[in-house]
Amino acid sequence: MLPRKHQEKFFTSLAPMKGLTTRHFMDTLCDCGEPDEYISEFLRVHPTATVTSDVIDLVENRKSMADLSIQLLGREPEHFLRIAKVLQHYKVKSINLNCGCPMPKIGKKGVGGTLLTELNIIDDIISILSNNIDIPISVKTRIGYKSSKEFDIILSHLLKHKLSTVYVHARTVKGMYGEPVDFEYVKIAKAALDCPVIANGDIKTAQEAINVIKETNADGVMIGRAAVSNPWIFRQTSELANKSQAFIPTGKDYFSFIKKLQSFSEGRNLTDFQKTSSIKKYVIPIADSVDPLGNFPYYIRRVTTLQDLTNICKNFFIKKYEPDE
Ligand SMILES: Cc1cc2nc3c(=O)[nH]c(=O)nc-3n(C[C@H](O)[C@H](O)[C@H](O)COP(=O)(O)O)c2cc1C
Repeated sequence: MLPRKHQEKFFTSLAPMKGLTTRHFMDTLCDCGEPDEYISEFLRVHPTATVTSDVIDLVENRKSMADLSIQLLGREPEHFLRIAKVLQHYKVKSINLNCGCPMPKIGKKGVGGTLLTELNIIDDIISILSNNIDIPISVKTRIGYKSSKEFDIILSHLLKHKLSTVYVHARTVKGMYGEPVDFEYVKIAKAALDCPVIANGDIKTAQEAINVIKETNADGVMIGRAAVSNPWIFRQTSELANKSQAFIPTGKDYFSFIKKLQSFSEGRNLTDFQKTSSIKKYVIPIADSVDPLGNFPYYIRRVTTLQDLTNICKNFFIKKYEPDE
């Protein structure tokens, strides 16, 4: 039986993104119409790994009441168990196993997407967790390491376990972020697995999210980069799904979102330049999306102080920006 959320509304999930989906970003999203659930950026599991203060801060102090899963990335089952035992003390929806990270420096350590070449290790990690801890296990996977032809065998391994959800980023590990997404494999996963299946990859608008659900019969969508450039995408998806007018953010909405993000850097022991860099990684995707042919992205990329960043954003969003209908 699917959770209530799956039955009555369009289920949305914020994709984990290392360095971007921090507690502060999640807290800021709360005011934009948040997703139904969050997955943390990966926590690296290795022989000396511990549950970091960032993860504890996230589970203890986040503003949202929506579900939160903690993602783990590693390869040693016994260390997954050690970390999971600590996580049992917190309110966590699931432990999410990263079987998709394509970054070469991660892959070299035999973790993330590389686990898709050693499916017995995935089995061992899921088994040790399922047999010893109470937190449900979910998996975020790509559709193969080198080729999508591997997907059937990946699914046959996932089918051996009781999983709470499988998130399918519908491209291969070798395809990094450039290979076209093929949602046909989400459809195949949905038909094969008996747990909820969530579609992920290159979903850029609320309308695309709805189309993907219709095409694949998936139980929901997971959205990453588009939620950074358009933090209202979850709200818009839910509005469109309910056949109402999707929210159109004004320049003031964008400006206020950026100011809120900025407020989190206040009081932190960072230089002004570091604070500016920490905000730019969110503002650059916004600038690219709202002014693809204009100067706003050019100026944001080059800004070095918080005051200049505020002035450039104010000048664009309060004086110039006109939302597309
Ligand atoms: C900067 C960045 C960091 C990411 N970090 C993670 C991560 O920690 N764990 C993970 O499973 N996927 C990670 N991903 C992949 C995303 O979760 C997602 O699967 C991918 O971006 C495709 O979805 P999208 O097109 O909606 O962004 C990351 C992606 C980006 C761009």
